[in-house]
Amino acid sequence: MNADGRTRLDQTPEWTALAKHREELGNLRLREVFAAHPDRGTAYTLRVGDLYIDYSKHLVTDDTLRLLRELAAATDVFGLRDAMFRGERINTTEDRAVLHTALRAPRDAVIEVDGENVVPGVHAVLDRMAAFADRVRSGEWTGHTGKRIRTVVNIGIGGSDLGPAMAYEALRAFTDRDLTVRFVSNVDGSDLHEATRDLDPAETLFIVASKTFTTIETVTNATSARTWLLNALGDESAVAEHFVALSTNAEKVAGFGIDTANMFEFWDWVGGRYSYDSAIGLSLMIAIGPDRFREMLDGFRLVDDHFRTAPAESNVPLLLGLLGVWYGNFLGAQSHAVLPYSHYLSKFTAYLQQLDMESNGKYVGRDGREVQWQTGPVVWGTPGTNGQHAYYQLIHQGTKLIPADFIGFAEPVAELSDELKAQHDLLMANFFAQTQALAFGKTPDEVRGEGVPEELVPHKTFKGDHPTTTILARELTPSVLGQLVALYEHKVFVQGAIWDIDSFDQWGVELGKVLAKRVEPALTEGADVPGLDASSRALVATYRELRGR
Ligand code: F6P
Repeated sequence: MNADGRTRLDQTPEWTALAKHREELGNLRLREVFAAHPDRGTAYTLRVGDLYIDYSKHLVTDDTLRLLRELAAATDVFGLRDAMFRGERINTTEDRAVLHTALRAPRDAVIEVDGENVVPGVHAVLDRMAAFADRVRSGEWTGHTGKRIRTVVNIGIGGSDLGPAMAYEALRAFTDRDLTVRFVSNVDGSDLHEATRDLDPAETLFIVASKTFTTIETVTNATSARTWLLNALGDESAVAEHFVALSTNAEKVAGFGIDTANMFEFWDWVGGRYSYDSAIGLSLMIAIGPDRFREMLDGFRLVDDHFRTAPAESNVPLLLGLLGVWYGNFLGAQSHAVLPYSHYLSKFTAYLQQLDMESNGKYVGRDGREVQWQTGPVVWGTPGTNGQHAYYQLIHQGTKLIPADFIGFAEPVAELSDELKAQHDLLMANFFAQTQALAFGKTPDEVRGEGVPEELVPHKTFKGDHPTTTILARELTPSVLGQLVALYEHKVFVQGAIWDIDSFDQWGVELGKVLAKRVEPALTEGADVPGLDASSRALVATYRELRGR
């Protein structure tokens, strides 16, 4: 029993049935499964929007999928989904609604929080952002000396950095190439230094992005950026022309010295890691323009509508979430790789790390008790072809089970020369070859058939049966990016719902923040920090010695 009287997840009949099924299944061989079901390569596929999803290379049968769907029904995933879309306070530990889906709702939608329709406010901010973005893009918005803005520097961290930074890279081909956006997140002063060292302050616009406007890294970097600007331009009034803020906290923004007329707001029902389609996306909107930004929101909405309405059998986020539960809870996988075959998606996995690991990296359930099952996996990965020459060895022949998502596109999106365009087929040949090799491997007899000496046969044998999902789309447009992100957002939601955890808080990052504040005086002043452990005390002393203090 849970503390709230519900049956504990791992004691439900649906969970027990899956555990039994896993025993009975033994080691499923994908070669055999495909031989027995020649249509599996098309039957185990789904489409949502522009995305074609192939899940045939998974260690599952029809029975597995049915039992997983029964688990989803027993844990009322769709009930929680509906509560989320309705604006109920499903983030119970922070007593907040979870309404990132309202950020992409159409103008005429009605979504209420505490009896108030939030949609008009969402569109009012989007309209303000669009007007501002157009002014910067056209050169109408100028800096203090009358020069037009050439570089936008977004200062933020976590959800106030990773989303826009990832999307700016992803949609580079759609950006105004006369404007550059840079992202500063690290409190390591080198980050701001490298981002600004070759810039002309008179042509630079800082966007200070912080939901709370209390995050020490962001406030510190923003303060240093203001000093850098004022050292060059000399006049306090320049701040208003070179700084805007994205926040939910008008009071703190004003306290920092940014005119709240230059603040773009969002709301406490938008989680940081779910915020890049809110005002937090302003830098991206300046780069790609308001129309493209709205296309991206349409892409998000398309997958929201799918998740909200598609039946369980064809609901893609549900399927992807359930597959993760299967591997994490019944086959012992500890991690999940996301491997995009697109240079533009170089920051996609880093973005997903926060989305997934900050959401589902929890050991306490909704009822306040420690859960007795595995929750969120370690999410990792980099663009695929580079990974092939680095860590794929371990995926192919290591001892760990690593389910992986392969994301690829039929067309390169940028204006490439014919020669570079031709490289795309080579890129995608790798994409298709890898999932094939992972799934079906190479038997000892096949290796012998190539004349390999017997002592090398085991080394050159690939056992296969490494599960992958393939996500294929025509090209990486703003809409497709929105579709991909929404897909993962809802996948993470599904898993959190099943694991019975609050996917929308992040208490786990608080302790480090509090301790950092306590330790700082020990570094700077040699102050005695009560309660500092022996290891940390010695480390601090060594640090001070190395710094000559
Ligand atoms: O420390 C974690 C976190 O709270 C994230 O959830 C959030 O995205 C990030 O910090 C930044 O917070 P803020 O936007 O309030 O500066």
